[in-house]
Amino acid sequence: MSDIKIKIIDREGVSHEVDAPTDMNMNLMEVVRSYELAPEGTIGICGGMAMCASCQCYVQSDHKLPEMSDDEEAMLSEAFNVKDNSRLGCQLHITEDLDGLEVELAPEEA
Ligand code: FES
Repeated sequence: MSDIKIKIIDREGVSHEVDAPTDMNMNLMEVVRSYELAPEGTIGICGGMAMCASCQCYVQSDHKLPEMSDDEEAMLSEAFNVKDNSRLGCQLHITEDLDGLEVELAPEEA
């Protein structure tokens, strides 16, 4: 089992440094949920299908991330609070390349 470190700033502005496993086929949204960094029902609403944007986050470190899929791009073009560094957490798979990643959760859409 190999873990990477990810820094996640929650919606209250509190920073959490968490370990995320690279061998469990997880994505960033699932990591946030597993550490309960956002209340149940406010993140991962579509189950990771790039269809709700509840998992939007702002990537603050300069990691080279996988290209956005058309679905992710389309969803972010409709979402609120989108910034240049927005990504959908559910579309970011936990791999060793993401070690040291720093993200901030986007505000909940209301
Ligand atoms: S969980 Fe719905 S878009 Fe990521």
